[in-house]
Amino acid sequence: MVVAALLAAALAQAYVQQVTLPKRGLEKRAMAAGISRYAVIAHRGASYLAPEETAPAYLLARDMGADYLEADIQRTKDGVLIAFHSQAVGETTNAAQVFPGREKDPVDAFTLAELKRLDAGTWFNAAHPRRARPAYAGVQILTLDELLTIAEAGPQRPALYLETKSPERFPGVERDLVERLRQRGWLGKFAVSGQAKVIFQSFRPESLARLRELAPDVPRVRLFGSRLFDRAAWNAMTREVTGTDQGIGPTAYLCWPWNVATAHRAGLLIHPYTVNEIWQFRILAFLGAGDGFFTDRCDNLLRFYNRPVLDSPERILARNGY
Ligand code: G3P
Ligand code: CA
Repeated sequence: MVVAALLAAALAQAYVQQVTLPKRGLEKRAMAAGISRYAVIAHRGASYLAPEETAPAYLLARDMGADYLEADIQRTKDGVLIAFHSQAVGETTNAAQVFPGREKDPVDAFTLAELKRLDAGTWFNAAHPRRARPAYAGVQILTLDELLTIAEAGPQRPALYLETKSPERFPGVERDLVERLRQRGWLGKFAVSGQAKVIFQSFRPESLARLRELAPDVPRVRLFGSRLFDRAAWNAMTREVTGTDQGIGPTAYLCWPWNVATAHRAGLLIHPYTVNEIWQFRILAFLGAGDGFFTDRCDNLLRFYNRPVLDSPERILARNGY
């Protein structure tokens, strides 16, 4: 009882502290960096409704009106950048059938031609029968180029939120990424909105430092996970990032009001991952951690921010042959 009362008092005090923080500095920093406030970040696309990081997931997110298409960038054996999250290729593909014995291998053990033979959708149908669609069977792993083409092709112009995933496996991936984005005209800002076309994100500070050298004007967000009450780790990370990157992407359960206050006081935007339900957005926003969210359910987040869902999933999927 006493412990609960003390915890409630500490939460209340920290909450009051963070809500009374001046937010105008943050607004200005977000605007200067070209980061949307409040950011709807479609985590691996609309990955609640379609297989993660595949064409239908990104088409859904784009046409429903997400601000950002999030993707994990890895590199194939023959040097092609792809959007793919898993460390083991067989986690979200049928690699066990197509390449028996290689299903636990990472993407850099496969050429692009090999990866393109894989079905990246049937696992989703099996895992989520209520959201399954026959047309998801056989969808392919996407290259970065294909993702850019999707982002460029619709009525909406979402930005990209690209993570260098396990960059230690892919020496030079930052250079490859920046060069490809430059060649495709994806560095810089959208003329109309002034939003940066790309945000970089990574758990690895050295990867963000490399990206900063190569493309200093592209905003960067440091991803972060740690133990539930490890305030020292949070504070150390905040100090490292302050003045270098524009924001942090913590796992959502770390967004205690005292942590939020420390980061906001340092002028850092906070984009928690991965938050899907409206009640969860509500709690995190109440705690001050609502500068934007990584979400598998961008339609829920749009509703939470009182923004329209621009088109229905059914119509989007039908229009695109899914
Ligand atoms: O990039 C934000 C969040 O996606 C980090 O976790 O494992 O989903 O890439 P993960
Ligand atoms: Ca990610």
